Amino acid sequence: MTGQFHQPVLLHESIEALKIRPGKIYLDLTVGSGGHTRKILKKGGKVYGLDVDPAAVLRAKKRLEKACPGAFFYLEVGNFAKVSAFAAFWGLRSAAGILMDLGLSSEQLADESRGFSFLSQSPLDMRADPTLAVTAADLLNVLTFKELTKLFNKLGQEPLGFSKKLSGVIVDWRKSQKLATTGQLVDLVSRVKRGQGRIHPATKTFQALRIAVNDELNSLKTALPQAVDLLAPGGRLVVISFHSLEDRLVKNFFKGRSDLKIITKKPVRPDPEEINANPRARSAKLRAGEKL
Ligand SMILES: C[S@@+](CC[C@H](N)C(=O)[O-])C[C@H]1O[C@@H](n2cnc3c(N)ncnc32)[C@H](O)[C@@H]1O
Repeated sequence: MTGQFHQPVLLHESIEALKIRPGKIYLDLTVGSGGHTRKILKKGGKVYGLDVDPAAVLRAKKRLEKACPGAFFYLEVGNFAKVSAFAAFWGLRSAAGILMDLGLSSEQLADESRGFSFLSQSPLDMRADPTLAVTAADLLNVLTFKELTKLFNKLGQEPLGFSKKLSGVIVDWRKSQKLATTGQLVDLVSRVKRGQGRIHPATKTFQALRIAVNDELNSLKTALPQAVDLLAPGGRLVVISFHSLEDRLVKNFFKGRSDLKIITKKPVRPDPEEINANPRARSAKLRAGEKL
């Protein structure tokens, strides 16, 4: 089964952290291909789930109907930044546990039409939610030199010097034509940067654009307090993040909530075996807190 679908990261660790109890309600706020939801259902939990990507919700529904017949799950297309409103709509006052497995699924990365991968020749789209108005191409063609520099520096965590150089070649390119494809962007990055080891030189450029297009940090910032408010006493919030901007945000949020007992003094990382089997897991960090 794992070959066909996104391989869930830190699956065992996240399910342990959630302390699944049969018959209780859990929220999976990033359903993706349903890997974590499937495990919660197998352990007897009931799941309400969200994902901004309608294709993901459709795929997960089909998969779970087959894999977990008779189990209770209700999945909806939506942004976790509005989780309180969704919970009210579902008639839920509280949940026994909430999971957020941030970022993208392998299916999204592999779908060439989405433009998330620097390995394909695709339109520069990068919207996880296809109803969003602004694509990565829009940002690249419209932002000023200064704004682009800030984007690569802050959201891509690239050095200022490189960020300026890259913004410079982008602005130059725009004088003759619009930036339209992932291949064009990769070409421009490689004019000003060499790859280091196994990391592709455009990795952080793509990260920055993806975060900006999907307003990822603000959605997370908005969702976290709502999630804690929704937890029943003793309920756990488990968040898996994939880069330090997200992880720092989660860490500081956990520290600042007096009604949350931090379960993970240090973030839980995948073991070498998991990283070997699934290189996408290499940057994952799991943090869990329990509602007092
Ligand atoms: C890493 S995948 C989740 C994989 C899933 N746990 C599994 O095992 O199949 C992250 C998912 O979160 C979704 N997502 C990202 N930002 C979101 C947001 N603000 N609200 C809801 N879903 C979001 C993405 O569309 C993607 O499908």
